[in-house]
Amino acid sequence: MEARIVVLPGDGVGPEVTREAVACLQAIGEAFGHRFSFREALIGGAAVDACGDPLPEATLELCRTADAVLLGAVGGPAWDKHPRDQRPESGLLRLRQGLGLYANLRPVTVHPALEDASPVRPEIVRGTDMMIVRELSGGLYFGEPRSFSPERAVNTLPYSREEILRVARVAFDLARGRRKKLVSVDKANVLETSRLWRMVVDELSAEYPDVAVQHAYVDSFAMSLVARPRDFDVVLTENLFGDILSDEAAVLAGSLGLLPSASLGGTVGLYEPIHGSAPDIAGRDLANPVGTILSAAMLLRHALGLLREAAALEAAVDRTLAEGHGTQDLKGATHSHGTAAMGAVIRTALELVGTEHR
Ligand code: IPM
Ligand code: MG
Repeated sequence: MEARIVVLPGDGVGPEVTREAVACLQAIGEAFGHRFSFREALIGGAAVDACGDPLPEATLELCRTADAVLLGAVGGPAWDKHPRDQRPESGLLRLRQGLGLYANLRPVTVHPALEDASPVRPEIVRGTDMMIVRELSGGLYFGEPRSFSPERAVNTLPYSREEILRVARVAFDLARGRRKKLVSVDKANVLETSRLWRMVVDELSAEYPDVAVQHAYVDSFAMSLVARPRDFDVVLTENLFGDILSDEAAVLAGSLGLLPSASLGGTVGLYEPIHGSAPDIAGRDLANPVGTILSAAMLLRHALGLLREAAALEAAVDRTLAEGHGTQDLKGATHSHGTAAMGAVIRTALELVGTEHR
């Protein structure tokens, strides 16, 4: 097949990790006979510096007409003092909203070779396999009114029935294809928005009698997540709770650098690692490319429907980690590599596993 992929490297470690993921996609294309074309565009601080806008119109337009978008990361200290609409993050938020991406899928698994990499005990993290479904285009991130003055600042947490329903549907459908358990995380003991959230999830659950639904308050869930992570299958939650809980869940996997994400809902999906731009290690060949490479695997699966290709790339990552390869963030890796070398090891593994998946 042919596919047009837009690549948005962004800031910090973004260019380094997307380079490795693109090389993996090229290798998949060659192995399975697909023609992928890649076009790079500006986003984030790089775009602010080049044209004074963290999401230039040309970038959004290019993304709208692509088959999929692969993004690295945005942000950095250089732009911290900029007003909100001139910050790199606002480019990413406008891109998510502009593409209509309301469902952010963040799978969290613990690789057997990395059970000791987490500060949480191996017997607790072992076998963790959950899918966090984070609402991505509503809530506090976008709610109006919002304002800032040195004396008083306002943010608002609105959700409509329809906004809750559409993301909840994604979570229920995913649960159906997994272990059929869904936990919806809210703060319904305090927030009106959460009361509505809970009501809508309960109503929808009537359509999914095969899925067991639980509700949890976000504070207690934050504790359960590290105390008994194996118990959770699909986790559904609003935008800010999902942002926080997914970073917490990354501790289980052993490193924030390992986790991918897919943002769905519109006509074009966005695929990006959950980590940030990591300015402290940027440009030094230290970043872990695995989160971005696994995001590329999600792109193959969700955007292009290439299931065997996605499985092959994931199997290559699995094999690489199983053999003890890693980057500096993975304590206990027996072979420590830089970003580029780690990507190369994964592509070598791809040649080995590739044939089993063809
Ligand atoms: C994430 C990031 C972003 C978010 C930032 C960079 C705006 O933390 O993707 O989790 O808050 O959504
Ligand atoms: Mg985050």
